[in-house]
Amino acid sequence: MIAESVLILDSHFAQTNDGQDIVEGLGKVPKTLPAKYFYDDRGSQLFEQICQLQEYYPTRVETEILNGCADEIAQITGISELVELGSGSSTKSRILLDSYQKKSQYCRYLPVDVSSGILSSSVAKLELQYPGFFIQGLAGSYEQALNFLKSHKQTRRLIFFLGSSLGNFDEHQSDLFLEQISNTLNPGDYFLLGVDLHKSLEILEAAYNDKQRVTEAFNLNMLSHINQRFRANFNLSLFTHQAIYNQAQHQIEMYLCSTQDQHICLAGLDFEVDLQKNERILTEISRKYDLLDMQNKLQKHQIKPLRTWSDPQQWFALILAQR
Ligand code: AVI
Repeated sequence: MIAESVLILDSHFAQTNDGQDIVEGLGKVPKTLPAKYFYDDRGSQLFEQICQLQEYYPTRVETEILNGCADEIAQITGISELVELGSGSSTKSRILLDSYQKKSQYCRYLPVDVSSGILSSSVAKLELQYPGFFIQGLAGSYEQALNFLKSHKQTRRLIFFLGSSLGNFDEHQSDLFLEQISNTLNPGDYFLLGVDLHKSLEILEAAYNDKQRVTEAFNLNMLSHINQRFRANFNLSLFTHQAIYNQAQHQIEMYLCSTQDQHICLAGLDFEVDLQKNERILTEISRKYDLLDMQNKLQKHQIKPLRTWSDPQQWFALILAQR
């Protein structure tokens, strides 16, 4: 059951042509599938598990940074409406909520996630733990949420986008996304962005090829999700997980590799496709950034970096910027 304090954003807030992006991706050379299809309820749970893995450093390092700077963020931004894009179980946002609470800066907190299941259970817990805050989950895509927010202007707003999720967008998509963020913010509003920085190939490849094979399950789950949602017949046992670091592009690339020649039907999309043995489908890129490039990119979108925090090894950074 969905908690009452979760608003389901409908197609009114986005141009959806459900599944057309799958048809387009599988028609490309090389074939791709959009990363958004990782996140059904099971995919979101698997991602939560990834975040707790020893090898997957981003969550751990970003949490350490946030623990050190959350009070300062609350101090700088003051009372604001807090919007978290891709909130999952809102683990990291609790650190921020604690800092606002300590200063008696009771805000509205709007977590946004595509998985209404995870959102509903986390909102129910947060309401008990943070009685002074008005909490409302927004179930939908980033696009739907940003369009919703544009039509509900607030006096002061802080949008945060943690976990380096921006890295899952290519250059063009991230420019469109940052433009949308910029348009959703009023002058003076804030944006807090978590970015994963350049580092060695060994550390990066270990993070996406964990020993417990949770990332493999996460990657394969995309096919189950597509099977259920679009009546497709992907056989998960005929695919293997691959994650490699493309050093020239500074990005992890995750693939599902077909172990034999096969024919796939996606009945719900009225689409069929052949895969050859060893043919790979790109399911995700995860870009790793140069800090200065990212600060310049924000500036280009009229979001001015105010403060940046990082860890001693400079693996990850949090940038607080202002429209
Ligand atoms: C959500 N996103 C930032 C994760 C990442 O690291 O790119 C998704 C992920 N894919 C495999 N492991 C984690």
